[in-house]
Amino acid sequence: MFKKITLTLLFSVSIFAQKQARIVEDFNKNWNFKLGDYPEAINANYNVSDWRTLQLPHDWSIEGAFDKDAKTKQAQGFLPAGKGWYRKVFTIPASWKSKTISIEFDGVFKNSEVFLNGKSLGVRPNGYISFAYDLSPYLNYGQANTIAVKVDNDSQPNSRWYTGSGIYRNVRLVASEKLHVGKWGTFVTTPEVSTKQSKVHLEVTINNDNDSAREFTLVTSILDAKNKEVANKTSTEKIGAKTFETKVHNLDVLKSQLWNTENPYLYKVITKIYEKSVLVDNYETPLGFRYFNFDSEKGFSLNGVPTKIYGVCLHHDNGALGAVENIHAVRRKLTLMKEMGANAIRMSHNPHSLEMMQLCDEMGFIVQDEAFDVWKKKKVTNDYHKDWDAWHKQDLEDFIKRDRNHPSVMMWSIGNEIREQFDSTGIAITKELAKIVKSLDVTRPVTSALTENVIEKNFIYQSGALDLLGFNYKHEDYKDFPTKFKGQKILASESVSALETRGHYDQSDIIQAWPVKHGAPFDGNADWTVSAYDQIKSYWGATHEENWKTIKSQDFMAGTFIWTGFDYIGEPDPYPFPARSSYFGIVDLAGLPKDVYYMYQSEWSNKTVLHILPHWNWKKDQEINVWAYYNNADEVELFLNGKSLGKKSKQNDDLHISWKVKFEPGTLKAISRKNGKVVLEKEIKTAGEASKLNLEADKKVIKNDTYDLVYVTVSMTDKDGNFVPNAMDLINFEVTGGGKLVGVDNGYQANLESFKANSCKLFNGKCVVIIQSNGKKENVQLKASTGNGIPISSINIKVN
Ligand code: GAL
Repeated sequence: MFKKITLTLLFSVSIFAQKQARIVEDFNKNWNFKLGDYPEAINANYNVSDWRTLQLPHDWSIEGAFDKDAKTKQAQGFLPAGKGWYRKVFTIPASWKSKTISIEFDGVFKNSEVFLNGKSLGVRPNGYISFAYDLSPYLNYGQANTIAVKVDNDSQPNSRWYTGSGIYRNVRLVASEKLHVGKWGTFVTTPEVSTKQSKVHLEVTINNDNDSAREFTLVTSILDAKNKEVANKTSTEKIGAKTFETKVHNLDVLKSQLWNTENPYLYKVITKIYEKSVLVDNYETPLGFRYFNFDSEKGFSLNGVPTKIYGVCLHHDNGALGAVENIHAVRRKLTLMKEMGANAIRMSHNPHSLEMMQLCDEMGFIVQDEAFDVWKKKKVTNDYHKDWDAWHKQDLEDFIKRDRNHPSVMMWSIGNEIREQFDSTGIAITKELAKIVKSLDVTRPVTSALTENVIEKNFIYQSGALDLLGFNYKHEDYKDFPTKFKGQKILASESVSALETRGHYDQSDIIQAWPVKHGAPFDGNADWTVSAYDQIKSYWGATHEENWKTIKSQDFMAGTFIWTGFDYIGEPDPYPFPARSSYFGIVDLAGLPKDVYYMYQSEWSNKTVLHILPHWNWKKDQEINVWAYYNNADEVELFLNGKSLGKKSKQNDDLHISWKVKFEPGTLKAISRKNGKVVLEKEIKTAGEASKLNLEADKKVIKNDTYDLVYVTVSMTDKDGNFVPNAMDLINFEVTGGGKLVGVDNGYQANLESFKANSCKLFNGKCVVIIQSNGKKENVQLKASTGNGIPISSINIKVN
């Protein structure tokens, strides 16, 4: 008793000496880079005067030109790959000699080899995996050190989507004392969760790099969202020389606040190591209290509340930024998804960035975390199957260790549409992978995204090692699943694959499929557009509405992940070159929503919605399909130039209503009503001549930290401010002050202009400019001009 009180007192008055225990430094700045192969660059005296200086993260593919004959091919968007070298000279204080110093790479695409002062630290083929190297043995303390990174993305094709090339995620330098928490060294679970009291089980792996055994004090402190301590634990521990050991702390948190998708309440676990009263390490782990269940009859529930998974699949690219990872770009993507009502993200089909995982925790998304798109059997010539034998175990283990503390993660997917599904080798590999996952985490189900629902033909299923069955597409078959897969928990891991181009509307009354397999054939448009009415789908998929109706009405189905939330670079089915980015997104590549976004918003979110399409600039007397997505109302009445075209309401399982309207210029207006009272009104006007550029920034202020981004949407209006939906003008941009232009995009899938140009053509009236802080503390000004008589527009963004 006495001892306990003493310790508590000691900690609460902070008698233990504090020093900066763990130093984590941004290591992104001042790298030199050159395309090509330069093995001599590992040497200190190598001359890099003709290399570029840049700040990571960096993707050289996005800087290149689209080329019909590119080795990356259509699937990767016809952008270049190849080899490149990065190099940086840095000094380490002489006083750090007693520390363990490591470098952390969140992702390098791909086949990286890292050299320090001429010595190879290791290779890492997998371009999506996070990895680290201990630099300590080869460092020159108090003097210059040379780090060189070779990146080899030359063997092509190696992916079914755009990967990017280079050190495209963050890099950090970590200096810790020789006694420290190991890499991904904590594992926190919550064996019991309730609002009265939750239990926390923490395993901490401690590394002792000293030549002697050590005694230390391990302190765990749990902080709530306001950084108030809500639980703590202290123990005295021992560890041998040059070894690592796992220590355990169990704690109780009273009145725990639960994490859910509306209120993603986060705690954090602070781990401290004291040696002789001196703080030697300090490590933070995210913590969320939540419990969830997949049920073969009732679907998914979160904290006991039945919750349909309203998910989207996302690839890792950030549109015009390419694969370059940036927390602001990720936040923008997730914000758009959240506002649409999505509550879940599938990390297709590989480990995503730390920022993505962190924001899913913070913003309240349920995550399906996915490890692989291929196992031993290839999908394309030079894909990961070549590295499978040597690397899959380590890659899978590292993936789980990195991500298992995120409360958002609720499923481990060991693969997407894996070829071994179709032959008996799938049985052993599935068992092996599930065993690896279970050896590191038993708190989440192991799943895989399957395509084959004939039991005899699906060997991954036959392995019996999956806890949760994910099925991709074939929504017509879902109704048979409860009998066919009796007692199994089921999720539509991927669905839809419908195709749309933002703002492009073909007048048709039928649903068409591409390529021709069922439904009416889609033979395409000469300008490589696809109609934005939800009527064109891949033959293996469904329209958004067809799919959602099926999922919505089947309780056993835990939910779905739509292919995809955003267009992504590559996989521009159904077209060949010059199409270079996908048509599958609910939102286009520039981040501008397509109309079907509002169908989901009306179904998935608690927002009141009334959205009408298309635009209102057509030929006189042309017959136009007018659609409306709405909710929270009994009916919608449509008016053209003040004349009612009738009231309509959704019947049965309808997800939209429509009218056929003979075009005449003027105002198209919709009014939704409930019990006769107006809920919302929406108006679209026929636009006159293009006369004004409208600039709208998503932020008023950015930080001068060289990372922060502002996205400016540029749109054309007529003299009265009406949006001009067919404007295609070329806009020139000039950015001055504390920012630089880092990307332009108009969302048109066949646009071959560079994402890095200082100009961009409007597509269907809009484009987006991305500006990044350049570090100067000066306000940013963006000027946009057309050179064809339309006045120059400008916008200022404050910098602080
Ligand atoms: C799926 C696949 C995705 C994407 C999609 C396009 O079968 O899992 O990666 O290729 O098709 O429809």
